[in-house]
Amino acid sequence: MQVEGASDVGGKGLSVSDVYIFDESMPKENWTDQWHMMTHRQVEEAQDPSSDKYYPKRHGVDFYHHYKEDIALFAEMGFKVYRMSIAWTRIFPNGDELEPNEAGLAFYDRVFDELEKYGIEPLVSLSHYEMPLYLATEYGGWVNRKVIDFYVRFATTVFNRYKGKVKYWIPFNEINCVKHHPFVSIGVVEENHPHIEQAKFQGAHHQFVASALATKACKEINPVAKVGCMISYQLLVPYSCDPDDIQKTIEKQRESLFFTDVLARGYYPAYTARMFAEKSVKLETEPEDEQMIKEFPVDFISFSYYMSSAVSAHPENLEGAVGNLITGGIKNPYLPTSDWGWQIDPKGLRTALNQLYDRYQKPLFIAENGLGAADVVEEGDVIIDDYRISYLRDHIKQIKEAIIDGVDVFGYTSWGCIDMISASTSQMSKRYGYIYVDQDDLGRGTKRRIKKKSFEWYKNVIASNGEQLD
Ligand code: BG6
Repeated sequence: MQVEGASDVGGKGLSVSDVYIFDESMPKENWTDQWHMMTHRQVEEAQDPSSDKYYPKRHGVDFYHHYKEDIALFAEMGFKVYRMSIAWTRIFPNGDELEPNEAGLAFYDRVFDELEKYGIEPLVSLSHYEMPLYLATEYGGWVNRKVIDFYVRFATTVFNRYKGKVKYWIPFNEINCVKHHPFVSIGVVEENHPHIEQAKFQGAHHQFVASALATKACKEINPVAKVGCMISYQLLVPYSCDPDDIQKTIEKQRESLFFTDVLARGYYPAYTARMFAEKSVKLETEPEDEQMIKEFPVDFISFSYYMSSAVSAHPENLEGAVGNLITGGIKNPYLPTSDWGWQIDPKGLRTALNQLYDRYQKPLFIAENGLGAADVVEEGDVIIDDYRISYLRDHIKQIKEAIIDGVDVFGYTSWGCIDMISASTSQMSKRYGYIYVDQDDLGRGTKRRIKKKSFEWYKNVIASNGEQLD
């Protein structure tokens, strides 16, 4: 939903991400607010064809029409894997149709064929913040149990269609982020829910069941396929050795680990009862849910890692971390920050890998890691992004350390290989790629692709399997 664009082509329906606007006149510090808190009014306006707002995620960077050129560039860098998602709304535009949309299916056939031509393995997310908007507005999102069936129909359709083409699947991107942005995660407008914690965990429960059912279907259709869960893992550390800070950190970290606990182990962890009681959450479940979740846990765990944060039980007099730090937290005085306020902590990646592996003993895939920065194009199409190279180099070194520690890390896809629309701020100018796209925050530009300095650097990293990092 951040690269593809062409939201009005081939019968595609609107997704929940298609309602986010970019508006320069909005104060910068409010740009992430809509990501965290979608309003009813905005959802309505987005459905009005006469809305004059700019909706960047409907346009992406037009990968839809540039996929051959883009994949050729990925191949030139030596990619062995390409992480992408299938837009649910290309296959089932409203989400509740009985038959899939052939034009949408055919598009991904072309993408997978192109990847195969270069020997690039696709790693495919089924739902990367892009459930059909119709399921949010007409059914109330994932809180409604019916959405499980719609999702499983979508999943089964693509598992069958791409059986020989895709082996690695991720049912939900950053499934733990429902806590921070329920609209884009489970299709729920917070204003409508007096008891939002209940809605979030009910929606999450339905996603757990859906993940298990999708895993079951996937294995039946293609026994060699692998299914992984995906969380946003922001490493949390105690601000001090005060026992209260330590306890608080454990509780905060569990807010994310809860999701991997259920999906990787196949049952709700022991701390659930207390957590739910404190939040007054009472799940509505069906008798078969427990068995389904138990029988079909994921094969591997994937996660995004951008930053870490400190936690204090007494934050009143401490400086808070800024930027889109999803779990908030306290500024760590030992760490530098990106221009968007994210605290850069490469060694935290080694810790995160060790923690996840100690806890689950399942293979790990780093599905996202990268630096959002405002790149400058100098004369002659030169882009010197040394800051990005240094961020990635420092993190890759720590992956090596984790591997020496004995952690089973079987893959790494940095975020994102080509510039795209930022998920949280809807900016184009927050760039992550090795490939620059000539397009500004309002979608103006030629969309020309330009290689950055990091392009050649990463090519060598892949060719040397991470040995050559300088
Ligand atoms: C992850 C998301 O949270 O972070 C991506 O899975 C997102 O979709 C990435 O783009 C970086 O965040 P942002 O807000 O800088 O685009």
